[in-house]
Amino acid sequence: MPPAALAAPAADDEARIASRIESLIARMTLEEKAGQLTLVAAVREDEESDRDRKPGEPTAMQRQLAEIREGRIGAVFNGIGADWARKLQRAAVEESRLGIPVLISVDAIHGFHTIFPVPLAEAASWDPNLAERVARATAIEASAAGVAWNLAPNVDIARDARWGRGVEGAGEDVLLGQRFAAARVRGYQKSDGKSAADAHLSDRDAMLATPKHFAGYGAAEGGLDYNVAELSERTLREVYLPPFKAAFDAGALAVMAGFHEIGGVPMMANRQLLTHLLRDEWKFDGIVVSDYAADHELVVHGVAKNDREAVKIAFMAGVDVSMTSRLYQQYLPDLVRAGEVPMARVDEAVRRMLRVKMKLGLFDKPYERMDARRERTLNHTRQTRALAREAAQRSIVMLRNDRSLLPLGKGKQRIALIGPFASGPDHLNGPWTVFDDRRDAVSVEAGLRAALGRDAQLSVTQGSGIDSVLPGGIEAAVSAAQNADVVILAIGESEAMTGEAQSRTEVVVPPAQQALAEAIKVTGRPTVVLLRTGRALALEGAVRDADAILVTWFLAAETGNAIADVLFGDVSPSGRLPVSFPQRPGQVPIYYARKNTGRPPPPGPFQEYTARYRDISVDPLYAFGFGLSYSTVEYGKPELSTATLGPNGTLTASVMLRNIGKRAVDEVAQLYLRDRVGSVTRPLRELKNFERVKLAPGESKRVSFTLRREDLVFLGPDLKPVSEPGDYDLWIAPSSSGGIAASFELLGSAE
Ligand code: BGC
Repeated sequence: MPPAALAAPAADDEARIASRIESLIARMTLEEKAGQLTLVAAVREDEESDRDRKPGEPTAMQRQLAEIREGRIGAVFNGIGADWARKLQRAAVEESRLGIPVLISVDAIHGFHTIFPVPLAEAASWDPNLAERVARATAIEASAAGVAWNLAPNVDIARDARWGRGVEGAGEDVLLGQRFAAARVRGYQKSDGKSAADAHLSDRDAMLATPKHFAGYGAAEGGLDYNVAELSERTLREVYLPPFKAAFDAGALAVMAGFHEIGGVPMMANRQLLTHLLRDEWKFDGIVVSDYAADHELVVHGVAKNDREAVKIAFMAGVDVSMTSRLYQQYLPDLVRAGEVPMARVDEAVRRMLRVKMKLGLFDKPYERMDARRERTLNHTRQTRALAREAAQRSIVMLRNDRSLLPLGKGKQRIALIGPFASGPDHLNGPWTVFDDRRDAVSVEAGLRAALGRDAQLSVTQGSGIDSVLPGGIEAAVSAAQNADVVILAIGESEAMTGEAQSRTEVVVPPAQQALAEAIKVTGRPTVVLLRTGRALALEGAVRDADAILVTWFLAAETGNAIADVLFGDVSPSGRLPVSFPQRPGQVPIYYARKNTGRPPPPGPFQEYTARYRDISVDPLYAFGFGLSYSTVEYGKPELSTATLGPNGTLTASVMLRNIGKRAVDEVAQLYLRDRVGSVTRPLRELKNFERVKLAPGESKRVSFTLRREDLVFLGPDLKPVSEPGDYDLWIAPSSSGGIAASFELLGSAE
């Protein structure tokens, strides 16, 4: 159906929604309005606090239901199951004065019951379509349990590996961030990318997406979570905002404001961004929700003298909905009565919330997502599980494979699987799983045994604790290695080392495990490192020099199976790094799209007075975009359809790829540009496009990318978009480093 045909019913729909909303607003009390703007955490039937309650006193659950009946709560997050959700919905729809449905939300960051690879891992697939399918599967599971609102995706750009929340996003790059943000929004909201973005939002298997944490949260100084982000408006607009814009363009109708501050203004008080940018400039018409009790934190930041003032500041800055603190519920009515907050602002926020609920179909079909039978049938289906395996396979990045150690044969060799992450149900899923059952996840050992069958000659030794020396561990591991033909070393970070509030100063493999790796190296056995991590790590010594390295992140449900698929060659690794891996922790933040400076270091030995470190080069250990496969793909020289790009013209850049190896592979061809001279400095390289290409052994294929003047637009000195005539370098390369350059000239006058 052409988009024009869809526009008419949508307009009717909007008019119908608007009139329903206005008639409700006309009947709502101030308390009911504040209630709609209040999101609280779910309580359980068996809340611990209930144990101390006096006879006759209501339970926490009964109190929450009573509040819903009174219209004092508009949304609830992280509760459990369709039956529970139905109870809440009944209280809202059938037992409250106005019958406004409650909105059930959740943090389904990388899956709901079935857990998928952490988002950073999934970004390593460089396959937004995969992310969309995973988000769709997540929405299907979650919505069957009553959920209509997901507090995801995290679209924060993360360039500092110390920051633990990089694991929740798509890495360091703007374009990759935009593509994954949009894909995840489409998946959650079930938009097909063709009809109106919210055309399917009311379907019972769709849920509202919430890009977060608006904006610049990932730029926390020192990589310290919640810390000040010191950002110029240029960097904010060029780097941190585009993934949000992409998420809104894909139809996201909610956004979460972060905990941090920029330039002395906590995000919750940032009218410039929350109102002027979001509403006036971008015309965003969804809801802005606070992060967890972040309205109260305005007092702690020191910009509000008490909670009442904090509410006034946050609400007037543009935060429509308050999460968990209940401060809107407590203070908004009084602030309006005192004339400190205009009723019009309250109505505006309520209007947005009701509109979202209507778009989700909650008014017309309040129980549709709350069907216990559907919930059971759709939980952990075979298809979802298969998708989890596919996603895990494609998230794996091979950094090294000396003398083609991998893939391993399944034959007679004796394998020593060593390391704290070799077995057991823990540390497979990664952070941010609210409803997972970790016993469902397949460990590395289980995956290897399933692949090798009963004749497996596999020994399993822990060797070390995650962060501590295991008495006798190294000796046992060394002897296991000596009795094996090949060692598989499962090391890296624990689940608790990444995620919210898990900043690390030393982004390395923990020392106890490093010691284990060094001891194994002495045995001389060929060693494959399986690196479990939620961030880029500086690899050192025996880990850096291992014969083969697979970055396996947190692959979640299908960890062991996917690793076995790659180790034994059923699948060729095809992941590419979404973050630069530093040589040393002191290099972070490190990212490929850096500036040249006025003193770029020449290649070769250390030179005084250049922008380089005394001890090492400025290069990463492994560049953004890098990853090996079981074949070799040759790149030809980029060919350009024209050497000059006119103001309204197009330029096609293409390159011949040839698979000279013996395996079929998925290659990720990456298009990078450099604007040699601009009115402001431009990055040394910027990713402008990429494409996954399947290549059979011996096959050659031409990959083409089309460029228009719009693709060369950046923000000029006054922060207005501009494209400037001049010379550009272009690479179509297998990573952000290397490749053969071509160049062209952009003609025409600057805007
Ligand atoms: C996180 C948010 C999350 C919220 C609710 C906060 O601590 O920053 O990302 O949505 O908790 O769980």
